[in-house]
Amino acid sequence: MVRETRLTPESLVYPLFVCPGEGVRKAIGSMPGVFNLSVDEAVKEAQETHGLGIPAVILFGLPETKDEQATGAWADDGIVQRGTRAIKRAVPELVVLGDVCLCEYMSHGHCGIVKKPSATVVRSDRGPTAAAPARSAEFEIENDSTLEILARTAVSLARAGVDIVAPSDMMDGRVAAIRAALDAAGLQNMPILSYAAKFASGFYGPFREAADSAPQFGDRRSYQMDSGNLREAMREIQTDLEEGADMVMVKPAMPYLDVIAQARERFDVPICAYQVSGEYAMIQAAAQNGWLDRERVIMESLLSIRRAGAGTILTYFAKDAAKLMS
Ligand code: PBG
Repeated sequence: MVRETRLTPESLVYPLFVCPGEGVRKAIGSMPGVFNLSVDEAVKEAQETHGLGIPAVILFGLPETKDEQATGAWADDGIVQRGTRAIKRAVPELVVLGDVCLCEYMSHGHCGIVKKPSATVVRSDRGPTAAAPARSAEFEIENDSTLEILARTAVSLARAGVDIVAPSDMMDGRVAAIRAALDAAGLQNMPILSYAAKFASGFYGPFREAADSAPQFGDRRSYQMDSGNLREAMREIQTDLEEGADMVMVKPAMPYLDVIAQARERFDVPICAYQVSGEYAMIQAAAQNGWLDRERVIMESLLSIRRAGAGTILTYFAKDAAKLMS
């Protein structure tokens, strides 16, 4: 009766990984209960999600092929574009969010264009060693040329029928570029949910298995945020809002509850939080070992994220949690 914070299925978003083929349900080793789904299977998941009272899904894609222009991200017949059309046809009331990022579609696994791809060849006395891990100093992400591909991706996803575009790449200026491109394409009403405060996190590990998007060299620390920086997170959010974001996301969730709480205090827009793959995997692994009470910890983790101030939570537990709530 006196509880201050409540969880409802309406505050959840369920992530789906769409892959080529038919009848495919490929289990992800580090995320028990999560699958790569072909379009037909993703439609079934979307129907079940909707039936549980969850209002939205967010789609990630595993393309047939990858290259250095992320063609699969913005192609009309890209995997997420196909998934979106099929889901919106089958369950029109379900909100579909399109994740706008390039890492899943780039052969090198980075979220932007890599300057001098030959930088992946590291010269040493013993001659060139292909694909040796490079240090961040040995390659650069081309921020500004990446914006154009991100904008093209957002327009393509919007045309395919997503209800919200959600840029997660963390390039500077991407919200403005995406807003301008959407408006120019006559998509003035398409909302932008910006992954504004996205930290360079070890908790994304299992996702990179699920989305086959691990960087082949270096890391994402030149474009994602440093874990120690709360004030910088507020500035990132402010900038994205000034550029035209309609809602913002903090990610990961539980290790960054202070960031969520402060964002809630400072900004009067919808605040979303992403309970990421590593947060999911930790709970699943401990529960499988009998070390934690799974259902209790799922609900406690989601409630804590709500209490910190997130109105909407993206979580791989969305279906489980909705079932527990009913
Ligand atoms: C794309 C992206 C990532 C996640 C969502 N969008 C991975 C990354 O930045 O490496 C992670 C989500 C999760 O871990 O569940 N850039």
